Amino acid sequence: MHTLTRTALMAAAALLLVACNPNNPAPELTEKRTAAVAERIAPHGQVAMEGDAMTGAVAAAGPAAARSGSDIYQSNCLACHSSGAMGAPKMGDAAAWAARIDAKGLETVYANAINGIGMMPAKGTCMNCSDDEIHAVIDYMVENSQ
Ligand code: HEC
Repeated sequence: MHTLTRTALMAAAALLLVACNPNNPAPELTEKRTAAVAERIAPHGQVAMEGDAMTGAVAAAGPAAARSGSDIYQSNCLACHSSGAMGAPKMGDAAAWAARIDAKGLETVYANAINGIGMMPAKGTCMNCSDDEIHAVIDYMVENSQ
């Protein structure tokens, strides 16, 4: 065999041995590299949980985006509650609201609106409404039904 070919073959075999060696440790991740990877795969926006301290952009977007009871009423509840569709207590119908609140208590009425009751869909279709926002709309409807 030609010497050069033999050398090349031996070198290739040596490389193969190194590549296949099970004891060959994986490239080590230094602390710096780990941090860089963590930063690269981190989600762009951070989820703010209730109770978290608000920071930066989240703080700016959060409270500013809060809707009033009347805003939500107009966009989500009016369809049924202005006409009394499907037996919904009508906005302005003092007797209908008083009867419900007297019979169950306001807390139950709040909970029923959040969970849904009869033909009333959960959160009155405002799925991105917080419980507090639903409370605010109900207060708005009740205040306007005295
Ligand atoms: C698709 C129609 C519909 C929409 C939209 C709707 N409701 Fe209702 N709602 C009803 C009906 C029907 C009832 C009566 C349910 C029953 O007592 O069986 C009701 C009842 C209620 C009650 C009384 C619950 C109780 O315990 O007596 C509250 C409070 C209420 N709705 C709040 C809301 C709010 C707040 C919204 C908007 C965010 C909303 N609803 C949107 C149909 C609707």
